[in-house]
Amino acid sequence: MIKVGVLGATGMVGQRFIELLDKHPNFEISALTASSKSAGKKYEDATTWYLEGSMPESVKDVVVSETDPNVLDGDVEILFSSLPTELAKVVEPKFGENFIVASNASAMRMVDDVPLIIPEVNPEFLDLVEIQQKNRGWDGFIVTNPNCSTIALTLTLKPIHDNYNINRVYVSTMQAVSGAGYNGVPSMAIVDNLVPFIDGEEEKMESETLHLLGTIDGGQVKYADFNLSASCNRVAVLDGHTESVFIELDEDIDILDVKNKMSNFKGLPQRLDLFSAPKNPVIVTEEKNRPQPRMDRNTEGGMSVTVGRLRRDNSFNNSFKYTLVGHNTIRGAAGTSILNAELIVKKLL
Ligand SMILES: NC(=O)c1ccc[n+]([C@@H]2O[C@H](COP(=O)([O-])OP(=O)(O)OC[C@H]3O[C@@H](n4cnc5c(N)ncnc54)[C@H](OP(=O)(O)O)[C@@H]3O)[C@@H](O)[C@H]2O)c1
Repeated sequence: MIKVGVLGATGMVGQRFIELLDKHPNFEISALTASSKSAGKKYEDATTWYLEGSMPESVKDVVVSETDPNVLDGDVEILFSSLPTELAKVVEPKFGENFIVASNASAMRMVDDVPLIIPEVNPEFLDLVEIQQKNRGWDGFIVTNPNCSTIALTLTLKPIHDNYNINRVYVSTMQAVSGAGYNGVPSMAIVDNLVPFIDGEEEKMESETLHLLGTIDGGQVKYADFNLSASCNRVAVLDGHTESVFIELDEDIDILDVKNKMSNFKGLPQRLDLFSAPKNPVIVTEEKNRPQPRMDRNTEGGMSVTVGRLRRDNSFNNSFKYTLVGHNTIRGAAGTSILNAELIVKKLL
């Protein structure tokens, strides 16, 4: 067993980490951190459990530590970070000196020598780890995963990008409230409502997607060469982001071939049979009123993205459109971080 810790363990994503790690065959939780208001308390006293089911017994008595590299147990090898961005910017590099940090926070995603990875999409970006350690003289390193809406979108774009020339992508999102953290969206703002603004989300989707679908050339990321425009909305759904996607290719399309390419898509985690890898990262449904967040977010343990309403877009040349649903705190956050760590264990340790 590899000893792991969770930074920001009491929050929305931190709790998902705990839920997923509790059942993990290779990772054992041995450190949990949060803010000074939680530090020194037992996890069960510091945390209001937000997820379905009860808090795992194994963490109830663990004493929450300050989020400080100097107080962390030296036995821990991998740290999963679900810290607020501003804090992550300051502390993740300190943890990276000695630990492997698999982060959800956006703070380090676009730093040149820090890999931004979805294991099925661009596992080769792990090559940046060697450059990072050399640049910084660290024993540890930082690997990041993209934001929740980007992960779901990019998993569906990967089989298209690998097989066709994409000209442009438009995406409009309907994002769950859990994506903003427990205290993120007041109920008075979202019940009976929709908020057509999520700070920074459109910019993240537009840059992270092209980064992930890019290539590594001489230690530098070369972005994918197509246009992407995102419009992001917060809706009154608890978990599961829905996205309407419109794609124009350079060439004519065979919609059945697009469907097959998506359904048959497998990445390195599937070939390596990693524990958290879904059998199919993308599942295409034919049902005319699906996917729906309540019904499809937990497909393959929340690790698959469900695509439906895949159809030719007759309003434009060479175009098609679809709707997707992905679980934002599992596939969109903790689950992908854990899959990144499984890939790291397989390829680098
Ligand atoms: N929610 C999602 O779907 C999602 C998806 C992808 C990425 N992310 C990213 O993941 C990160 C966490 O998001 P979240 O939704 O889990 O947020 P959250 O529910 O607000 O949780 C924040 C966590 O950070 C801790 N924290 C806050 N201030 C701290 C401080 N000054 N020092 C140490 N710890 C502190 C909190 O501990 P206390 O309980 O002690 O305050 C809590 O454990 C963010 O960077 C977010 O952008 C979230």
